[in-house]
Amino acid sequence: MLQIKFLDLSKQQKTIEKNLKLNLDKVLSDSKFIMGPEVNKLEVSLANYTKAKYCISCSSGTDALILSLLALNIGKGDIVFCPSFTFPATAEAILMVGAKPVFIDVGKNTFNICYKNLLNAIDKCKSKKLRIKAIMSVDLYGLPANYDKLNSIAESFNLNIIADGAQSFGGVFRNKKVGNLTEITTTSFFPAKPLGCYGDGGAIFTDNLDIKDKLESLRAHGKGKGKYDINYMGMNARLDTIQAAVLLSKLEIFDWEIKERNRIAKIYSEELRSSFQIPEIPNDSTSVWAQYTIQSSNRDEVIGFLKDNNIPAMIYYPKPMHEQPAYKAFSLNKDLSVSTKLSKNVFSIPIHPYLTDLEVEYIIETLKKANNLLL
Ligand SMILES: Cc1ncc(COP(=O)(O)O)c(C=O)c1O
Repeated sequence: MLQIKFLDLSKQQKTIEKNLKLNLDKVLSDSKFIMGPEVNKLEVSLANYTKAKYCISCSSGTDALILSLLALNIGKGDIVFCPSFTFPATAEAILMVGAKPVFIDVGKNTFNICYKNLLNAIDKCKSKKLRIKAIMSVDLYGLPANYDKLNSIAESFNLNIIADGAQSFGGVFRNKKVGNLTEITTTSFFPAKPLGCYGDGGAIFTDNLDIKDKLESLRAHGKGKGKYDINYMGMNARLDTIQAAVLLSKLEIFDWEIKERNRIAKIYSEELRSSFQIPEIPNDSTSVWAQYTIQSSNRDEVIGFLKDNNIPAMIYYPKPMHEQPAYKAFSLNKDLSVSTKLSKNVFSIPIHPYLTDLEVEYIIETLKKANNLLL
């Protein structure tokens, strides 16, 4: 029986071995472990890759969100809209700066923020005279949200946008890459992300020079021109030089990896369409397939069957934010039924670029068998 890995970082490491060793040896011999030259080199490469004017690297995807909120002066009592169906860091960052999340429902097949639900929540907040400040959208599972729609909603209501692109770096919407789709975009380099490092890491993208300058200050204790001139209440949130060196090596194969993920996703979608609810990718978008997520009302049984056949599956996420004990109090929007339903039905199957054709076939066959047995 095949033994499938949910993610295969060791195969990836073999692919980049030579270049990775060269890059890491250089960091060791330079010994500039904080803000060494690789950090700036990575920032320039990532800005070029996305065509955003600026890339500011930082210590994690969570810190990227917190830094972005701080850079926009969002704080105590401000309202920030974010999806309920997301990783907890999205809501956590809003609360960390003293602002309040208003949870928004998501589309049932794209998993991204629902624009109609967002507009209703904006109306509700306005009628209560709450201080609405920003939308924090999330490109769940690697699919960019529709930023034309979000930018126009933000403009109408004078809101900032922070795109949480932790899962979607490399994704495309209407010929523009994530990072270049809205005012501020954040990403995560957590090892399991499409572009991941060997620890924690993140980055922020913007075209706004003032925001870029402020973010560079905020990630280094709020420093001004001199190291000990402190202009803002900041953080220690820089990306390590070693992680930048790892990312530079991985960036070389990143486009190939995205192509492979898309090739596998296409096979999955063709083969699984008749048995499961599959993800929906609009024609004008490219997902990076951080996850390939399907839905079943018999989720536990299907996952159990996969496990018995050595196929790992994961649940992202078993509880929406509005049901989390820590965030339950933020319940202004009650219309969150899609998020609740998805949290009961979704599960993700392996989609890393190092899956063999045999493994992909085996995963499909096993899923079809599970579906037939449970009908
Ligand atoms: C949607 C989303 N936002 C934020 C984060 C936080 O990123 P990090 O783990 O790098 O702090 C993650 C990470 O899983 C994520 O998936």
